[in-house]
Amino acid sequence: MTPSIFIAMPGNEAAAGTLAKAYGATIGQLELRAFPDGESYLRFDTDLTRRTLAIVCSLDRPNDKILPLLFAAATARELGAAKVGLVAPYLAYMRQDRRFKPGEAVTSREVAQLLSNAFDWLVTVDPHLHRYGSLSEIYSIPTRVVHAASLMADWIKTNVANALIIGPDSESEQWVSTVAKDAGAPYTVLEKVRRGDREVEISIRNLGDVGERTPVLVDDIISTGRTMLETVRLLKARGDAAPVCVAVHGLFAADAYEMLIKAGARVVTCNTVRHTSNAIDVHGTLAKALGTLSVSTD
Ligand code: R5P
Repeated sequence: MTPSIFIAMPGNEAAAGTLAKAYGATIGQLELRAFPDGESYLRFDTDLTRRTLAIVCSLDRPNDKILPLLFAAATARELGAAKVGLVAPYLAYMRQDRRFKPGEAVTSREVAQLLSNAFDWLVTVDPHLHRYGSLSEIYSIPTRVVHAASLMADWIKTNVANALIIGPDSESEQWVSTVAKDAGAPYTVLEKVRRGDREVEISIRNLGDVGERTPVLVDDIISTGRTMLETVRLLKARGDAAPVCVAVHGLFAADAYEMLIKAGARVVTCNTVRHTSNAIDVHGTLAKALGTLSVSTD
């Protein structure tokens, strides 16, 4: 399945450029701006008739992005596009995968429904699959998931001598174990209890002597940064070497990044969400994954 046009939603130009180049496709033009009252204005300045289109939009800070994205997909169809797919390097709302308290919205399902209704297929990088085994449990369109573990492992092998890979909680084990295997490094997983949005408790009782190793904390998402921050603090309090924090998606709510740097950590992320910490390029791997997605072109 090869799109012939890629459309970059604002901020996604680099990813769209790499993908378009990989497929010899063109970058379509979409004008998107806000009216003075905050409503969205969209206009395609590219002929979409009978074309297979991929819209590239990472869904960090998703609430402002999803409505224009849905407008873009619907408009592309009205203008005659044959297929409209979504490349979302970061897929939002995946952590709301259960009704933790009565009456709560399970927004992972609601977002999956909205996107499945709007698009013909979806390609993303390491969605937060914790209670869901795969995206197909909530997405009704073909999906392809790109894993960043081997790219993260390569970065660690090249940049960190004598690494000890540490996962802050049991959820992170799926990423940590693969990264450690690919990096040829030992790993351990800590225990975490989340008390609130910005309150986590980490127990390092599973962690033996770090010795001369450099602790490398690996997780899929850094949001408020509290998970990483608490772990960094505990390690530093023990006198271990300054840790490196490596994550797939750096969302960095409020001052999360600055707090981690201030705490003495080096912070590195994949470029699924544009940020100064991006050091691991996943765009080439995304391009390859797109080619393996089989979608009928009827
Ligand atoms: C857990 O659900 C995730 O794997 C991350 O550990 C979590 O999202 C990190 O969140 P925060 O940075 O807010 O502690």
